[in-house]
Formats: sequence, C-alpha cells, structure tokens
Amino acid sequence: MASPALICDTQPWKDLKAHVEDIKKTHLRDLMNDSERCKSMMLEIDGLLLDYSRQCATQDTMEKLFRLAEAAHLKQKINSMYSGEHINSTENRSVLHVALRASRDKVICSDGKNVVPDVWKVLDRISEFSERVRSGSWVGVTGKALKDVIAVGIGGSFLGPLFVHTALQTDPEAIQCAKGRQLRFLANVDPIDVAKSITGLNPETTLAVVVSKTFTTAETMLNARTLREWISAALGPQAVAKHMVAVSTNLTLVEKFGIDPNNAFAFWDWVGGRYSVCSAVGVLPLSLQYGFPVVEKFLKGASSIDQNFHSAPFEKNIPVLLGLLSIWNVSFLGYPARAILPYSQALEKFAPHIQQVSMESNGKGISIDGVQLPYEAGEIDFGEPGTNGQHSFYQLIHQGRVIPCDFIGVVKSQQPVYLKGELVSNHDELMSNFFAQPDALAYGKTPEQLLNENVPQHLIPHKTFSGNRPSLSLLLPSLNAYNIGQLLAIYEHRIAVEGFIWGINSFDQWGVELGKSLASQVRKQLNASRTKGEPVEGFNFSTTTMLNKYLES
Ligand code: F6P
Repeated sequence: MASPALICDTQPWKDLKAHVEDIKKTHLRDLMNDSERCKSMMLEIDGLLLDYSRQCATQDTMEKLFRLAEAAHLKQKINSMYSGEHINSTENRSVLHVALRASRDKVICSDGKNVVPDVWKVLDRISEFSERVRSGSWVGVTGKALKDVIAVGIGGSFLGPLFVHTALQTDPEAIQCAKGRQLRFLANVDPIDVAKSITGLNPETTLAVVVSKTFTTAETMLNARTLREWISAALGPQAVAKHMVAVSTNLTLVEKFGIDPNNAFAFWDWVGGRYSVCSAVGVLPLSLQYGFPVVEKFLKGASSIDQNFHSAPFEKNIPVLLGLLSIWNVSFLGYPARAILPYSQALEKFAPHIQQVSMESNGKGISIDGVQLPYEAGEIDFGEPGTNGQHSFYQLIHQGRVIPCDFIGVVKSQQPVYLKGELVSNHDELMSNFFAQPDALAYGKTPEQLLNENVPQHLIPHKTFSGNRPSLSLLLPSLNAYNIGQLLAIYEHRIAVEGFIWGINSFDQWGVELGKSLASQVRKQLNASRTKGEPVEGFNFSTTTMLNKYLES
C-alpha cells in the first residue's frame, strides 16, 4: 500500500526549499527599503494591525506559501474543523472550540447535532450562578458571602484562565467589577502551591472551583481533596456542597467526588483541554471574579477572529498568515524557536499559555496518518513581557541564535501614567522599546557604522550586529476583554494552521502519557517503602539510588 502523501513530497514544499537560497541572498536592511513590499505585508482587521514586513520573506515567498497551503488543503481542513468533522482522529473527536464563543443564532454541529444551544445553556447557568455568588444570594454554610475563589486545575484547565485573569486584572472596567473579590489558582501538586493558594483565605468565604476535563488528573484530584479537607476541617463535611463546584466533561466522577451535580458546569469532548478557556473552564472562574458581561466581551473578541479565520482569504487572514510564516521560519529557514514578547505586563501569562497550546498541539513526530515525519514539526515557544525580556535573554536574540520574535504592543495603556516634566508618558517609554527592537533585529549594526562612531578597533566585532533577524509586530488598540479574546483566538488558530500544514494531529497529546504512567509506578513504590518498609525494586540503577536517598530520611 502506498503511504499517504506528506507535505514535503509536494512541489510547493520543494519550491520553498529552493527559494531559501534566494532569500539567503537578501537582507532585511534592503527588504525594508521596498515600501511596496512592506505595504503588502501589513494588515488591519477589526482594530488590530499586523506588520510582518520584518520577516525574511518577499511577496514571492508569500505566494509560494499560499501554494503550500493549497497543497496541504488548508481551506478544506479549516472547513472540516468548523463543520464538526472528527479531525482529531486519534481520539475520534470533533474540534469545536469555535462553538464556545459563537453567537446564539449560529449553527455548529458535532455528530449531526447543533452544539450552540448546549453551549449557551451552560453560559446562561454560569451567568446566573456567578451573579448569585457575586451578589451574595448564594452564601457559604455559615451564611457568609463567598468573595474568594480558588480555581483548582492544571495545564489547559489552568493556563488559559490564568492568562485571561492576569490580563483583566489591570483593566479599568474589570477592576471595577472585581472589587472586593479575589481569584486564585491552584495548579501544581506541590504542597507549596496549596499553601500559597489558601494563605490568608477563610474557608467560610471561599469557593473552590475544581476544573478538570477528565476529573482524573492526579495533581488536580489530590489538590481538590486537599481543599475539600481544608473546608471540611473548618466547617464540617456538609460545607462541601456550598463551597465546592466543578467544571468537567465527566459529571459521573464529579458526583463521586462529592460535589453536587447541580453545582457542576459541563463541557464536551469536542473541546480540547488547551483550547478550553472559552468553555466553563475559563468562563466560570472569570465570571465569578469579573461578572459574566465582561467575560462575554472576551468571548466576542475571540469570535471576531473565528470569523476572520473561517471566511477571510488567506492574504487577509491573520491566523493563516501567522501560521504560514511560522512554517516558513521553522521548516525552511531552520529557526525552530519563537519568542513571544508582549509589551504589556498584563500579558505576562500569555507566553506560558501559548507554550502549552503550541507545544502540546504541534510537538509531534508522526503525521496524522501515522507516518514518521521526515521533517521536524512544532515550535519551541518562550517569552516574557517587554521590557523585562530585554534585560534577560535579548542578548541571545540580537547576537546569538536567530529566533523569530512576535512583538505584541498596545496603543492605549490599561493604566496610563504621565509624570510632569518627563519627556514621554510611561506607556510611551515602554512602547519606544516596542518600536525600536524590531528594527534593531532587522537592521543590526555594521562594522563601518561602528568605525564612523570611533568605536575602538578591538571592540568592533563585539559591537557588530548582523541584523536580518525576523520578527513580526501586532498592535492592539487597547487591552480590554474583547482584545484579549482576539489575541487568544489568533494564536489558537495560528497553531492549528501550522498543524494542518505539517499534516499532524494538533488536537491530541499522547506524548504526555508515558511520564504519567511511570510516576504511578514510583507512587506505588513510595507507598510500599514508607508503609511496609519494602525495598526499592524494579527501577534502573540511577533511579534506585535516587529513590533510596530520598527515602533515607
Ligand atoms: O498535560 C496533559 C493534559 O491532559 C492536558 O492536555 C490537559 O490540559 C491537562 O492534562 C489537564 O487535564 P484535565 O483537564 O483533564 O485535568
């Protein structure tokens, strides 16, 4: 049987491989002088400005990438996603996170059933429940209002909600809505994280939201049992019904745990964990903190990008353009990493979230048809807000390895400050860096320029910057709930585009299983050694030695 076609066997892929030689002869210093080219590499959609003119690419490159997208049947794959086909074939599931932010009148089907009414049923329940908690009509077992929430969950049941919460925390409208309330997260099974999450909180005024798609994740369940104990020890076991609620696709296990199923908020197996922030996973804790109307704006922002992704032609489609450029950088130019550099402290948890969405989705070595990939898929994502990152790893980006950068800037600060006598406002100071860094990377600095500046000869090699380092810039009008939703959806879809082109399944995550099962073997051993004094057995020399050392005390 002939093996299924891989994208690298297509003519557009081969053309792009050959095209690398053309691009190697160019330098961004020159490419940036071509204003026609630059104009064609800027796009404004729904208040967002994308500028990808500092990519090591020409209009010819873009044409070739569009042909690659055709060869990969990108349009058909996007349509299959929106029409609820089981594109997550290894788990036999639809991939419909777009339905989570669809307006009420939309029809999006999974297995022949329109899922939008189910989505809104849960959203309406969340709206009603969060309002009851926030207004104090739902109270704890001692009659006190629940003003603090601990969201217990890990991975996709944590990182997205944390990113959105962190981004909203300094938004003026969200601040007003969150007055007197706290939202905390408990993710790590490390008991230190438990201690941090409950420090200063009173169980009488705390609501724990246990968030787990499967309701089997070892870390989350132990943390949930730990909080259950914290609540019961202080208020009695009957308090659990009033102080613990759940978000899960597994309502049977929620009930078994002891949480009233009436206090459970469902989502569905067609929502991947890392794509679940727009389900009850994010919407419940965020609505408890900020009220549903703010969260609804976030959903609308994501939905606006969903429309762009679904219906815009590729040259006007932000996620498609970004996805194709990532493919160009990783698979053709050989730059496997990407730095996510938001010039906004409010976006400090954006890169950690995208790390999971991107690397758990596309960190694959096998095609969706089970064929070993002869090329590397996936991207190594990392990032920090500017300007902090500048004082950390930018040295490497400027003079060490070539790492394509995403610069994300905001026109209007959430928290403007202008000090009398200062040259510029604090936000302008921040944004001066946002505008300067991409050019520093693109243009670099030549030995001739340094000579003209009378730099001593021996320092010239050290002060030379080769330039020609690609980046793209995304300018958001502001950072309100709507814009945060836009940003989330851009990256979610960009990552899907990459997976569609590489021909992998971006929606499964089998790679996380092996570590989990080995941990369970260690867990059994620790129990047997601690409770029955059994010797460490069945591990290699290294692990046995380490375990013995650990158990010694
Ligand atoms: O780390 C693996 C993973 O399965 C992620 O995909 C998921 O987001 C996380 O664990 C948490 O899973 P759950 O929501 O089922 O607890």
